Amino acid sequence: MVHYRPPQEFVCNRSMIDEADRETLGRKWPACWEDAASLLEWINPYDRILDKENSPFYQWFIGGKLNAAENCIDRHLSERKSQVALRWEGKQGERRTYTYYDLYREVSAIAAALRELGVKEDDVVTIYLPKLPELPITMLACARIGAVHNVVFAGFAPDALVSRMQRVDSSALVTCDGSFREETMIDQKRKADAALASLKESPPVIVVDRLGTSHDTQLGKTQYDYDDLVETYVGADVAPVPRQSTDPLFHIHTSGTTGDPQQMTHATGGYLAGVARTSRTVFDLSPGTTIWCTADIGWITGHSYVVYGPLLSGATVVLMEGSLRYPDRHRPWKVIERNGVEILYTTPEVIRTFMKWGESFPEAHDRSSLQLLGTVGEPISPDTWKWYYTHVGEERCPIVDTWWQTETGCILISTRPGIDESKPGSVGPSLPGIKIQIVDEDGRELPPGEPGYLTITRPWPSMLAPLDGDRYWVLAEYWQTFSDPRADNWRYFTSDQAVVDDDGYVTIIGRDDHIITVDNRRLGTAEIEAVITTVDAVTEAAAVAESTAGETTLCVFATLKQEQWDRNVIRNAITDAVAEHIGEFARPANVIFAPELPETHSGKTMYRLLECVVNDRPFTDSDTLRNPEILGELATIWNWK
Ligand code: WTA
Repeated sequence: MVHYRPPQEFVCNRSMIDEADRETLGRKWPACWEDAASLLEWINPYDRILDKENSPFYQWFIGGKLNAAENCIDRHLSERKSQVALRWEGKQGERRTYTYYDLYREVSAIAAALRELGVKEDDVVTIYLPKLPELPITMLACARIGAVHNVVFAGFAPDALVSRMQRVDSSALVTCDGSFREETMIDQKRKADAALASLKESPPVIVVDRLGTSHDTQLGKTQYDYDDLVETYVGADVAPVPRQSTDPLFHIHTSGTTGDPQQMTHATGGYLAGVARTSRTVFDLSPGTTIWCTADIGWITGHSYVVYGPLLSGATVVLMEGSLRYPDRHRPWKVIERNGVEILYTTPEVIRTFMKWGESFPEAHDRSSLQLLGTVGEPISPDTWKWYYTHVGEERCPIVDTWWQTETGCILISTRPGIDESKPGSVGPSLPGIKIQIVDEDGRELPPGEPGYLTITRPWPSMLAPLDGDRYWVLAEYWQTFSDPRADNWRYFTSDQAVVDDDGYVTIIGRDDHIITVDNRRLGTAEIEAVITTVDAVTEAAAVAESTAGETTLCVFATLKQEQWDRNVIRNAITDAVAEHIGEFARPANVIFAPELPETHSGKTMYRLLECVVNDRPFTDSDTLRNPEILGELATIWNWK
């Protein structure tokens, strides 16, 4: 495997990466996390680092009190009041800029308005907004008054919004009149109203005016215009409410690739400490650094590295509404060029799309501001990694391949740019303070080179917080796979399969739930797909298990580059490549050419639904899809194959 040393230019310029030796830090657990806590401003200092009473959920920085909004905004006012905190680019070419002081004023106004509408400390506010500045502002307004935010991705249908509001007993809703998807207008308010109609009692609703005067939106009895509220309450002095470190900061639901959406809650102190620390060690964020993370704020990546991490660090956040391809494929590169983006954080899926479009797009723009590139969400193939490194980063920007989950709150495995070497395709070593083990079905540690279950064997501050009642036990399942959750052998089960090298570098094979057993051998779909995407014409692939008469075979869905190709030639090339690189036993029985793969809004392929296609099962729980229309098309293609 080729190793990439940190590019010299980056090493010379990097600002605050912590050089502390991984071993030393690791030995000092849990004290090593005090270093993370010290990145925050505490209203009351904590008196104990952790509490095991709720094991397996460890709780952090006990006795400490702090406020997230104060940490993200007020603490910066003395030194960088006029620095830009947020730059927004709208779908229609609009641009808006907010300084830290602007954020302070608008967050305080909305915080005062929420209070006036009856929202109290610990109440839950659901936010159902696309990528508008009002989204992070409302999150911080909630945090300021000690309310708990519950952001629901704006693309969800009303039913999904209802279940996510009811589950957490939401006291208010913040939404907008509508938004634009390329040329089409999305009526967000209509979706919100449909959801509200199925609630027993309608909570107060704040409506952001995104569409402007040309679209008149009717506000109901308990519905309020966002701008009117800002106008009424601007200048309000809303003191940040001191929150216990263990108090919830927000609820979030996981992407639901594997079934029902799962509620997660993150606690204020531990979550912020984990995110602040990784913003430094992984992204080298310091005041004034400009970061563009393409994730939607409705998912954990957006919470941690669009909103909290950058603002805790005093950085400048770039937020882009709309699609990367609209009005044309130059848009992402124009955003980088115009805003002087220094850190770009995106997913392998987006990078593959850029690859498909070709290097002429990035190369037509000035990318000299870029210093560091990041990727998250799924394994990145070495080819994709190298394309990103060469054509986006001009071979001078390190790439951090960051592994983490909604449950972990912050990045746990990644190289540290400027310190660790990169190995394309391998995420890297666990970060200082994080201990991992690859184990077999019985929880026994496997030696380097042997694939198994990725587990984490020491608690970390931004870990998922416990929930009450039955929900406690649902979450406790993360520990039950290998151990009694209340026993001492603490082992968090990630649901990922991985392999570790002699030097501690972890390669993610794929989710455990995407592992296929063919011919009594376990196959990581990610591994098969990496082979298939080396075939010239293929852009994306998904491998699923097809069961016919008790026999399991492999079926591959592949999307192709736009040019005309001879499909029989490609089909053979795919099956040959799998047979050659994985083994004859794994030769796919079927190859289906798909216009698109079914994906969640966070870009994860929905294997479960592809399995429904090949096994002629009805589609269930498809409301988390970005492109639900593709299912019918795939079923037709499958039946005519
Ligand atoms: C996968 C997103 C390979 C993994 C932050 C994990 C990755 C799931 C990587 C969590 C990576 C995340 N390489 N796979 N760098 N990062 N994953 O909760 O399977 O949306 O369990 O959190 O994404 O997805 P989630």
